[in-house]
Amino acid sequence: MENRPSVWSSNRFWRRSATWVTGVSAVLLIFLTMDSMSQMTMGTAKDIQNKVTKRIPSPVVINYKIDYQLNRKRGHEVPIIGGMDANGNSKYEEKEKFFGRDDYSEKEAQALIHKGKLTIQAKNCMDCHTLLGNGAYYAPDLTKAWLDPTWNTLAAAYGGKEYAIAKFLENPPAMAMHERKMPNLGITPEEAKAVVAYLKFMAAIDTNGFPRNFGKIKGAVDARK
Ligand code: HEC
Repeated sequence: MENRPSVWSSNRFWRRSATWVTGVSAVLLIFLTMDSMSQMTMGTAKDIQNKVTKRIPSPVVINYKIDYQLNRKRGHEVPIIGGMDANGNSKYEEKEKFFGRDDYSEKEAQALIHKGKLTIQAKNCMDCHTLLGNGAYYAPDLTKAWLDPTWNTLAAAYGGKEYAIAKFLENPPAMAMHERKMPNLGITPEEAKAVVAYLKFMAAIDTNGFPRNFGKIKGAVDARK
């Protein structure tokens, strides 16, 4: 008994442990990577047709009405695309005109959103704003800006909320809503339209309730009355 070496000082034990821990971690990491990849993969127009919900929907989502509703099970708001069924899921039925059309093809919608992204990069919007949490904290996060209730109140006067946001972007000081003003960045009407498409697409992404308090803003979307 006395002479039997403790397992803690056995090379064999440590070698085996290291092999097992490395092996199990590798399998787990591969699984998690695949899972993240599938969560991050953009959906297609077919998914929307087949009413398959993807965290990042197809660009054609700009043809649909986008709401933001509290999901009690998940404890935060989720995007609702094209109307909501009795179970609180997207119906993908109700369309909404976007600059006069609700039939953008996947290619057209993708091109428009891409141009919006390039404009946002070229004009350095992230010097002041955040998008999906990245950027600066001078001005509001833009992830759900499309759903800002302010635009609903302006929609009628401008013939639709996409027109109101575009007008604002073309000359923000003229439509200032706060003491802290956004400067005129020389955005053309074409660029403004593309940026609005980008913002609408962004609003349709399921961000697990980010930004956290957006739904609780007084008068905002669901507002947890
Ligand atoms: C110099 C800082 C600054 C830059 C750069 C800037 N913004 Fe702004 N932005 C602001 C401020 C400040 C406000 C709030 C102004 C107001 O409400 O009148 C604002 C408001 C907005 C709003 C309304 C937000 C809401 O929740 O309704 C949108 C949309 C917007 N900006 C988009 C953009 C885009 C797109 C760009 C880049 C092309 C950009 N901003 C660049 C400062 C900036």
